[in-house]
Amino acid sequence: DKGGWSSFMAKEVSEEPEAVANTIRGRVRDGQVVVPELDGMDALFADISRIIVIACGTAAYAGAVGKYALEQWTRIPVDVELAHEFRYRDPVIGPDTLVVSISQSGETMDTLMAVKYARERGARTLSICNTQGATIPRESDAIVYTHAGPEVAVASTKAFVAQITALYLLALHVARVRGTVSSAEGEQHVRELEAVPEKISQILDREQARIEEFAGWMADTRSVLFLGRHVGYPIALEGALKLKEISYIHAEGFAAGELKHGPIALIEPGQPVFVIVPSPRESALIHSKVVSNIQEIRARGARVIAIAEEGDAAVLPFADEVLRIPLAGPLMEPLLAVVPLHIFAMGLATAKGLDVDQPRNLAKSVTVE
Ligand code: M6R
Repeated sequence: DKGGWSSFMAKEVSEEPEAVANTIRGRVRDGQVVVPELDGMDALFADISRIIVIACGTAAYAGAVGKYALEQWTRIPVDVELAHEFRYRDPVIGPDTLVVSISQSGETMDTLMAVKYARERGARTLSICNTQGATIPRESDAIVYTHAGPEVAVASTKAFVAQITALYLLALHVARVRGTVSSAEGEQHVRELEAVPEKISQILDREQARIEEFAGWMADTRSVLFLGRHVGYPIALEGALKLKEISYIHAEGFAAGELKHGPIALIEPGQPVFVIVPSPRESALIHSKVVSNIQEIRARGARVIAIAEEGDAAVLPFADEVLRIPLAGPLMEPLLAVVPLHIFAMGLATAKGLDVDQPRNLAKSVTVE
């Protein structure tokens, strides 16, 4: 039931705040993350020396965001790999490896086969999944459910923010067990994560109509580029995937630092480029590098749409549009910056008169390899 919305995707984007809030609920005790499903597994987390995250599509981008938090908070090295690449390259894994799979449906065949392969090779497996009792969690040693609620639209939106949330909870849980984050720091990260749903709601309230309006003007656009750095990089990839998927427009995401290594050759007058601008409070250096990327592409005629935190004035002289996201704690920006990109993809597909819920050639759950 679309509950009065024009599409399931529109409904599911509107549910992004609850998806995050419901995934956190019940997993914070005395200000610290304690995931009840992981009770009794402290020895497992004490023993591992590597984490490999495997997933496909949007779930893999959630994994790529989660890597930053997992490494920063647990100090365990993390690799993120597409599930269908992982099992065909004889990976070096064993009992000290925790393989974390991420899947909304829990039925993606590529991911399932990779999980089975990891288990056969002696690795420990943990599944982050949105569907109770699905096959992938049943094949895994441990499960952390995302509580995004059923996702019907083929394009994954609310499950994505719930997956990042679950990865952050996992990171804080493991960091607590291993003692790599103090309880004061842990508490601070929890507070920042708990503040995210309200901030997503603010973006929906303040920016949705404006984004839909300019997405409407761009209905004839043939190509859109997305740039991001650090945690903004996987968000750029997600923005591009969503646009290809439902609006059939050529879209590509790049690491902003790669520009001068090739992609800047694509910039010609009028080329729309979304840039996810990192918070200057988090790293003045990374922020200044992305602002100079914006200047470089602007000088070549790009039409720049910046996603920047409130009060960041450095982008103003160089951006054609600035989409504002509220100030948030370190590593929380991806959970906010993705929201305008989901709205944009949906707005553009709608302006083109396409079925946003059922894009051509795609299935909600890919149950063949
Ligand atoms: O159900 P899963 O999370 O395992 O699905 C993985 C991908 O097929 C999925 O995220 C796909 O990329 C989406 N259609 C993206 O919007």
